[in-house]
Amino acid sequence: MKKLLNACALVLCAGSLSAADVPAGLIRIGTDKTDLILRVGDDSRVRQAYLGPKLVNAADLEHFSKSSGGTEAYVTHGMEDYFEPAIRVLHADGNPSLLLTYKDFTQEENDSVQTTGIVLQDEKYPFEVRLFYKAYKRENVIKMWTEIEHGEKKPVTLYNYASSMLHFGRDSYWMTEFSGDWAHEVNMEEQKLTFGKKVVDTKLGSRANLHVSPFFLLGLDAPVAENTGNAVIGTLGWTGNFRFTFEVDNANNLRLISGINPSGSEYLLPKGEVFRTPEFIFTYSTEGTGPASRDFHDWARKYQIKDGMGDRMTLLNNWEATYFDFDQAKLEKIIADAADLGVDMFLLDDGWFGNKYPRSSDHAGLGDWEETKAKLPGGIGALTAAAKKEGVKFGLWIEPEMVNPKSELYEKHKDWVIHLPNREEYHYRNQMVLDLSNPAVQDYVFGVVDKLLTAYPEIAYFKWDCNSPITNIYSPYLGADKQSNLYVEHVRGLYKVLDRIAAKYPTLPMMLCSGGGGRTDYEGLKYFTEFWASDNTDPVERIFIQWGYSYLFPAKATAAHVTSWGKQSLKFRTDVAMMGKLGFDIRVDELSPAEKQFARQAVANYNRLKPVILDGELYRLVSPYSGEHSSVMFTDRAKANAVVFAFNRNPRFSEQLRNVRLQGLDPQKMYTVAEINLMPGAKSGLAANGRSYSGDYLMKVGLPLFSGAHLTSTVVELSAR
Ligand code: GLA
Repeated sequence: MKKLLNACALVLCAGSLSAADVPAGLIRIGTDKTDLILRVGDDSRVRQAYLGPKLVNAADLEHFSKSSGGTEAYVTHGMEDYFEPAIRVLHADGNPSLLLTYKDFTQEENDSVQTTGIVLQDEKYPFEVRLFYKAYKRENVIKMWTEIEHGEKKPVTLYNYASSMLHFGRDSYWMTEFSGDWAHEVNMEEQKLTFGKKVVDTKLGSRANLHVSPFFLLGLDAPVAENTGNAVIGTLGWTGNFRFTFEVDNANNLRLISGINPSGSEYLLPKGEVFRTPEFIFTYSTEGTGPASRDFHDWARKYQIKDGMGDRMTLLNNWEATYFDFDQAKLEKIIADAADLGVDMFLLDDGWFGNKYPRSSDHAGLGDWEETKAKLPGGIGALTAAAKKEGVKFGLWIEPEMVNPKSELYEKHKDWVIHLPNREEYHYRNQMVLDLSNPAVQDYVFGVVDKLLTAYPEIAYFKWDCNSPITNIYSPYLGADKQSNLYVEHVRGLYKVLDRIAAKYPTLPMMLCSGGGGRTDYEGLKYFTEFWASDNTDPVERIFIQWGYSYLFPAKATAAHVTSWGKQSLKFRTDVAMMGKLGFDIRVDELSPAEKQFARQAVANYNRLKPVILDGELYRLVSPYSGEHSSVMFTDRAKANAVVFAFNRNPRFSEQLRNVRLQGLDPQKMYTVAEINLMPGAKSGLAANGRSYSGDYLMKVGLPLFSGAHLTSTVVELSAR
């Protein structure tokens, strides 16, 4: 070893193993439940020695420093490894190789968050790779990212530049992907990984998650289960093209490489510029995906999502109620309906802007962010005033990264639009993507938000949409030699805009929307309080969609609206939406008096249950993928209050119904069961209603919450005495 690593001297952490317990030559990255141990070998190469449940005996670490196994932590191309590398570069002199050896290491811990940096360098070229790890000890989540920098005279081309690489040596691997399409997001499908590569990636640029989401589940030795077995949940925080590569080699070892999708994105890195990859974020559980999801939710609320610990507003949106067909009077009526329902906010959706090219359909107007005078003579100001009068907040839809060719912006600034100079334009939803690699475009996009908030400080919320992938990929701003940097620079440009918004309007709540769930990543959620899970609001579909997202995202971040897309009872629709961040998007004037009363009561119930649903712990009890019934529950932190949702979709005749066994309760506590969300005048059909049971009984025996009646639901509230 060229430079002997003395981890003990540098480790400042005070976890269960003291600094002195880490033998020289080892780097221990870890949470309260997980250990990732790296070893610097005699050849100065850094290898992954262990990834798994936390090792409890300090003395055992010694075994790793003496052994020599393991695969390099960040495998390079062009040397002795024959499988997928983490990094592949082409030096300016045409040499395609990289050999990284240990140079330096730092580790520090603040408030249970341990940050580790490892510097690797090439001996022949002035080329450095820095690996970073952030371990959230209490929440059992680890982030990984990489910095790449060189001092070569000419730019180096980065062909592969992973955020992270992890190695597993197990008998079998079971990967669940979340794929789909518009209005059909996050369909879960598990597959066994066998020799070779499975790649999960997107190339859409923006609206990048349209076909597959940037997250996965990985079962080690067995398919994932909710409460047993070794499982990894992983995700990439990047609002653009991503790629996960799962490669099983000849020895049945799995390497997992995560990062920006390098396809069409060879990055030309000039001397001295630091290329920082996005963050790969994962948790490792020995008790299945249930605890893994709860760890993810805790971490996300505390550290990642904008205002993750704050409250969320219920709302009434006008999109499905009016589409583009509204005027001031119609909206004022809906604003009054919002107050009548008892929600916190009215959200005005698409169709309020454009004058030369009014936005009366999705064919025109994007880019021209002035109120359509013919439709809204009083402008946004009249609407915020109406909202104020009714005692509700006002939110507004925007899609500032996009332009319709039928717009004044396009006429004036074709140079701001991503398009190929010599080819006919391809339009997706009749629109094109603005070139966010261009600082002038960044100013413009920031200005859309800033100007609206300056003119109308009463705007309390934005729904930020993004309805097109990048088409006709060519930046008029980047030079001809830098076009392959565009996908990366575009996303970085978006973050620059969002950073400016966050700096100037730090408490402004915003929804991240992308033609439904086309953008659902944790870097985006740094800037957004919630995301729109899907344009599909049929509750039968939403049971699956919200179930899928729940593996990664807390209910607080998952916007769910009661709409008329599905034709089920208002109760069924509301019960499904209440499992997320509740909103409505219905014609309130078409509700019967009883339905209106029901909806008002449901909003009041939701407000009472917010600490349980939004800030509590989620337990997935019965999967919709397993049959026609499903159930989830939430408990508060004290295990004093809980709410259970149970759904029957289309059960077969004379089906045998099983009790729903609850989870997460205190076995010693006595809980009173109360069915809520009943239609006015309806009586609970639950024999358990009003009775008390111990947590022990509820978890071991359960409650008969399912029925054979189609498209029905039951919500029960449990309160400990
Ligand atoms: C996208 C969103 C919808 C709605 C429309 C408006 O599809 O996902 O919720 O806002 O745009 O055009």
